[in-house]
Order: sequence, then structure tokens, then C-alpha cells
Amino acid sequence: MAADTKARVKELTEALKNTYHITPGLAVVIVGDDPASRVYVNNKKKACEAVGFVSEEYALPAETTQEELLALVETLNSKPDINGILVQLPLPKHLDDKAVIAAINPQKDVDAFHAVNVGKIMLGEYDFLPCTPAGVMEMLHSYQIPVEGRECVVIGRSNIVGKPMGMLLLHENGTVTICHSRTKNLAEVCRRADILVAAVGIPKFVKADMVKEGAVVIDVGMDRDENGKLCGDVDFENVKDKCSFITPVPGGVGPMTIATLMKNTLKACKLQNNIAD
Ligand code: GUN
Repeated sequence: MAADTKARVKELTEALKNTYHITPGLAVVIVGDDPASRVYVNNKKKACEAVGFVSEEYALPAETTQEELLALVETLNSKPDINGILVQLPLPKHLDDKAVIAAINPQKDVDAFHAVNVGKIMLGEYDFLPCTPAGVMEMLHSYQIPVEGRECVVIGRSNIVGKPMGMLLLHENGTVTICHSRTKNLAEVCRRADILVAAVGIPKFVKADMVKEGAVVIDVGMDRDENGKLCGDVDFENVKDKCSFITPVPGGVGPMTIATLMKNTLKACKLQNNIAD
């Protein structure tokens, strides 16, 4: 599915180049040397190349100051050939991620993390959808999994996934519950779910006793198990026989996130050049 989306973006990008002589450009900023962030950023750059975008990487040292980072964001805001700006999170602890996100021009905010874009999503009138939740919705659509009227439980309330995920499911008339570390009787709440989205960041957190027979289980986790091997928030082997659908890690939600990022960057380019979608 991610490959299909990227192929579509590639075609549309070629058309844009031929008709308007414009190439979408994405700037990816990474601060420090978090190994997981490095892998994500490399994958984002590779995807840009594959669809025909220009990508610029700004790899800054861990000791970068807030002022330096904000100055880079300002420079990128003013660059006409850069349509999307993505500052990879998490940032080193001494940096204020909220202030950095607030500094990004909302029209270039292809993560949809800026308050303006978050607000638009709340109102259901958005330019950009947040990449991971949008990737999840695309999977549900593609497999014709209905959301309307069904119990949707999201575990995790992050600004990146949990909160916007709940909102997108709500927009499609799901009955949404967002669970978190203070939720009482978590397993019982999860067992109500027709669609269960795990975004807690705890390896293999979701076990069979938290899953209703026949549920759809979406795993947003990118964790490491006790042997350092990449795994998700769902104990796949333990849960898989109970579900009607389940996404693997790696190779499930992750590629869909990146495919959505490509869609958003193309859209940003069109918006900034007043080209109809
Ligand atoms: N860190 C983990 N996921 C994401 C994402 O979707 N965007 C950014 N900028 N940082 C992240």
C-alpha cells in the first residue's frame, strides 16, 4: 500500500515538473545522534528520492542551541524551493520542541504538528493530516474496515499519534476511547475495541487478554525487545490468532507514515504555488 501511494505521488510529481517546472522540496532536520531517529530520517530521505523530490538534510550536533535551531527553521521558512520542513523528534532534552514546532511556517508543516494545523484537524478542515494517523486510516480504508459506529480504542495520548488518531477515527463516526497510563481497567477497556490502536511505546504491551475475538489491531509501536530486536507495542505472536486483521512491526504502519509524508509534501508544494489539488 505504501508503495502504491508513493507511486501515485511520483506520477503527480512528474506531472508537476512537466507542467509547472516545479520540484517539491523537503528539509529534514535532525539534532544529535539518536540511532532510531537516524534510521527514520534515512528512510524519509530515501522516499524523497524515490518519488522525485529534492530533499535536504540538516544534521546538527547534539549541543546545538535553541537559538541556532530556531535560526535554521527561519532560514528554511524563507527558502522558496523548500516546501516542507520536518524537525525529527525527540529533540535533545535542552531544546524546547514546542517552540521549534511553533516557529515552522504552518504551510510548510508537513508533520501537521503546528497549533494551526492541529486546530484545523480538530475542526475537520485540514490541509495536512498527521502522517502516522493518516497512514492508519488509509490502511482501514484500503481493507474496507468500517469505522462508523464501532468501538475504537487508542492506547496512548501523544500529540504525534494518540490524540490525532482519536480525532480521525471520530471524524469517521467511530466511538473513540483514548487510554493512557492512568486508565483504570485498561485490559477491560481494550477488550471492548473493534479497532484497537496501540501507540504506547512499550514493547509487546498488548497481550491476547486485551483483545476481543475478531478485533482489528493496529500496532504503531517502534520498540526494541529484550534482545534489542525491533518490535511493536503488540505481542504479535500472542495476539495474532485472535484478530481479524493485525499490522506487523516492522513493515506495517511505519512505511505508511512515510508515504503520507510524501503526500503532504506534494500538497504543501501545490498550496505554496497556488496549484489546485
Ligand atoms: N518522531 C517520531 N515520529 C515522528 C514523526 O512523524 N515526525 C517527526 N518530526 N518526528 C517523529
